[in-house]
Amino acid sequence: MGQVRLSGLRKSYGDTHVIKGIDLEVKDGEFLVFVGPSGCGKSTTLRMIAGLEDISGGEISIDGQRVNELRPADRGTAMVFQSYALYPHMTVAENMGFALEMSGVAKAERRLQVGRAAEILRITELLARYPKELSGGQRQRVAIGRAIVRKPRVFLFDEPLSNLDAALRVNMRIELTRLHKELGTTMIYVTHDQVEAMTMGDRIAVFNKGHVEQLGAPMALYTRPANEFVATFIGAPRINLVDRPGADASAAHRALWAAVAGQAPAQTQRAGLRPEHLRLVAAAQGIPARVALAEHLGDSSIIHLRVDGLAELLSAKVGAEHGGIAAGQDVGLVPDAAWALAFDAEQRLAA
Ligand SMILES: Nc1ncnc2c1ncn2[C@@H]1O[C@H](COP(=O)(O)OP(=O)(O)OP(=O)(O)O)[C@@H](O)[C@H]1O
Ligand SMILES: [Mg+2]
Repeated sequence: MGQVRLSGLRKSYGDTHVIKGIDLEVKDGEFLVFVGPSGCGKSTTLRMIAGLEDISGGEISIDGQRVNELRPADRGTAMVFQSYALYPHMTVAENMGFALEMSGVAKAERRLQVGRAAEILRITELLARYPKELSGGQRQRVAIGRAIVRKPRVFLFDEPLSNLDAALRVNMRIELTRLHKELGTTMIYVTHDQVEAMTMGDRIAVFNKGHVEQLGAPMALYTRPANEFVATFIGAPRINLVDRPGADASAAHRALWAAVAGQAPAQTQRAGLRPEHLRLVAAAQGIPARVALAEHLGDSSIIHLRVDGLAELLSAKVGAEHGGIAAGQDVGLVPDAAWALAFDAEQRLAA
């Protein structure tokens, strides 16, 4: 079991309200991701669940039991941090077994548990080594191993992969997803990384300034973000937002609005179109734009475009066939309006 419920959860430091009332339920066995900009309260929330931080208001319950007053060790949670802080003078096996030793588990049983966790993490051959003899990814596995041997009801991960290089992150991302499938234990996972959030989570909670803007399945957040904040946060490069044209708007701005928001509800004040839904054609065949900057990634290109009358550049994510485009070139834009999002004056999705 490992169902977690947060009800009206609050945290203040003096007059600074850091967590402003969070209500959410993590289902037993679920992989829930917390994302949001720096300082929005992800780590604080996680630490409150673990019991490492006092709460200022509200309730945390695990499997229906209120845990507000329980010590961290009695909550059945195990936390893995960004910095893995292994004990340098202990071997991998000793590091992994330490929590068990502290709670009085006998040596033979410890060895069994550590051996099992090492197998799951594929680090059996590293058990006799010391932390300084390990790569970053291997150290991170040991840190996760320490959590596994405690058999928690809930794993809490705070950006556990952010110290790893790009290739290793991809590896560990896949490993962690596999681990979740294998253990079936509830996981709450904090990340800044778009791809981790989209690919690992059963659901994602998007945090903003101490509250949750939206909680939903990854693709639901992508296709039906509740508001401009979520639309902007989910998806990279970020979504293009176009204001409703005023009386003095340029012809290009009007043409763009008609193409993107022509079918949108009357209350629409801003239209959103993701870079991957903007096609490039010959200058005469679409809405006129000029290339301000072209970023060629090999498999795709991100083209930043200036449209007459728009203050901000638009970005288009296009295929390798556009790998020759250069700054200064005139092109035509064709929006795929089927993917367009409409927002009202309060920046909420206009149904
Ligand atoms: N002791 C403190 N006193 C006052 N404010 C604090 C204290 N500790 C943390 N905060 C504030 O609480 C807010 C939430 O911090 P938290 O570490 O939870 O953010 P986060 O979402 O994890 O950010 P990041 O992505 O940068 O890790 C921040 O604005 C931070 O400045
Ligand atoms: Mg944090």
